[in-house]
Amino acid sequence: MNDFPLRGHNTFGLDVRAARFLEYTSEEELEELIHTGQITEPYLHIGGGSNLLFTDECYPGTILHSCIRGISVTSEDDASICLRVGAGTVWDDFVRQCVENGWQGVENLSLIPGEVGAAAVQNIGAYGVEAKDVITAIETLDISGHRKTYPAEACGYAYRQSLFKRPEMKPTFITHVHFRLNKAPRFHLDYGALREALGGQAPTVALVREAVIRIRRSKLPDPKELGNAGSFFMNPIIPRARFEELKKEHPSIPHYDVDENLVKVPAGWLIEQCGWKGKSLGPAAVYSKQALVLVNAGEATGADIVHLARAVQASVREKFDINIQPEVLFV
Ligand code: EPU
Repeated sequence: MNDFPLRGHNTFGLDVRAARFLEYTSEEELEELIHTGQITEPYLHIGGGSNLLFTDECYPGTILHSCIRGISVTSEDDASICLRVGAGTVWDDFVRQCVENGWQGVENLSLIPGEVGAAAVQNIGAYGVEAKDVITAIETLDISGHRKTYPAEACGYAYRQSLFKRPEMKPTFITHVHFRLNKAPRFHLDYGALREALGGQAPTVALVREAVIRIRRSKLPDPKELGNAGSFFMNPIIPRARFEELKKEHPSIPHYDVDENLVKVPAGWLIEQCGWKGKSLGPAAVYSKQALVLVNAGEATGADIVHLARAVQASVREKFDINIQPEVLFV
């Protein structure tokens, strides 16, 4: 489809258009698009558009989107179940189905916007769990028509990072993601707010999902009501020596130990300390309940959001000498 409106394909709700938009519902349809030479530069493969910022009003090339959906069981034993999930499956539909079946492993990742393929690219994470903890393999088809399955160990997973985020992997399209979930629950309840939300009840996958949904709804704006892309920046990982200096000045600084030399500091806290929480710059704003989230407070353009993001980054650099990097992909 030509001159295609993308408002429904970016959770910032930006009024942008693509010169061309192509969707496919199976690997065979994607192969057909490849073999008939329909995927030409410039092109961009998107998921649910929940981690994207279109900086111009028109994307001059082809936007590709997978509608390969569905969940199938590939193997199971008494302890675990292995699933093959279409990359275009809505992430939270997948989580809901796992929870309904009592399969444990993704309930902490409830209500995260986006689709399964993009979740595997981005290594989404929340409340002490990351997608990489349950992913076992990724099936791909590349622009030359080659199929390849990457075991999780080959996917370069780290905090919000994977092999598939590298520019040279752009011509590789994820078609399916394989997961291993547990039948015997092993809950991750280290996150204080999650334990509190459970209120002392014995955890079940369904109760953990409900608690996560409650926490997310209380802190994070619903993109249907207020355009946003979740955390706009990644939490910076800094040398421990630098962290100790900061702690002297700010004894209450929240942090997570990464290893003995590195410490992760919440960007939301840094941004709040700079006075940005709830502040606007034109029609773009820093969300009032979580400073890590930038929102489209009206008819913001991509340029308005970029302008705010740059101003926030500059403040954090000036006050803390820390460079915070966007988690959101600028297009
Ligand atoms: N904080 C502030 N002010 C703020 C926001 C946070 O002081 O405005 C402090 C909080 O008090 C807390 C700490 O920062 O001590 C961490 O805040 P929070 O628990 O809200 O989590 P986060 O580090 O800001 C990360 C993920 C979220 C994920 C939550 C929960 C990143 C970039 N973000 O946020 O993921 O839901 O942890 O696990 O790692 C996303 O990636 O889009 C996302 C929402």
